[in-house]
Amino acid sequence: MTGQNAIAIGRLAGTADGAIATLLDAAFGPDRHGRTAYRVRRGMAWLTELSFAAHDAAGGLAGVLQCWPVALAGADGVEAPLIMVGPVAVRPDLQLHGLGRRLMDHLVVVADALPQAQALPLMMIGDPDYYGRFWGFTAEGTGEWEAPGPVERHRLLARAPLAALPRAGLLGPRQQAVLSAAL
Ligand SMILES: CC(C)(COP(=O)(O)OP(=O)(O)OC[C@H]1O[C@@H](n2cnc3c(N)ncnc32)[C@H](O)[C@@H]1OP(=O)(O)O)[C@@H](O)C(=O)NCCC(=O)NCCS
Repeated sequence: MTGQNAIAIGRLAGTADGAIATLLDAAFGPDRHGRTAYRVRRGMAWLTELSFAAHDAAGGLAGVLQCWPVALAGADGVEAPLIMVGPVAVRPDLQLHGLGRRLMDHLVVVADALPQAQALPLMMIGDPDYYGRFWGFTAEGTGEWEAPGPVERHRLLARAPLAALPRAGLLGPRQQAVLSAAL
């Protein structure tokens, strides 16, 4: 038993960059920076309102979830803003005990409660068997999305009503300011 109840989830803000990097290296491997997901949000700062940390009873970092401002740029150059979810990472010795679910549940509750002006579609590159099963992410509306690197189409996921998703374009960092400031 891992003492899940002793693990608290809160804002990621204030967590040392080094602790985050150590956890991500442990979960994804040190070559993680070459992944397409990193190219999609290159140069962006993570969203403080939508990024969370799990800490164990001793104050150690047990899990991380970050979200980023990204966009899908259409052929006309117009950007449709999106929120990119991930990395979602649980410390290897704590994996498969429900912590990833708790982090994602927390995000979805906060994201779904955002005022309408800030409520953008969530997207991610991830396992549909996990992110679809629990939170309704699907590749259904992303068939004409391009990424700035290799991506397995069935792992390019979005969570929003189909009608709210931009149809086609290239994923990348968000260039244009979005109305509602923070997100
Ligand atoms: C993927 C990850 C975030 C999941 O968090 P976790 O705390 O380990 O897993 P959970 O306890 O939330 O898993 C809940 C359920 O989902 C399943 N599951 C976990 N990861 C899964 C995956 N990648 N694909 C399919 N199912 C998965 C578990 O087996 C479990 O199933 P059960 O309820 O039937 O027993 C975590 O394992 C991790 O950090 N992995 C390494 C990094 C990574 O690969 N991240 C995903 C890509 S973004």
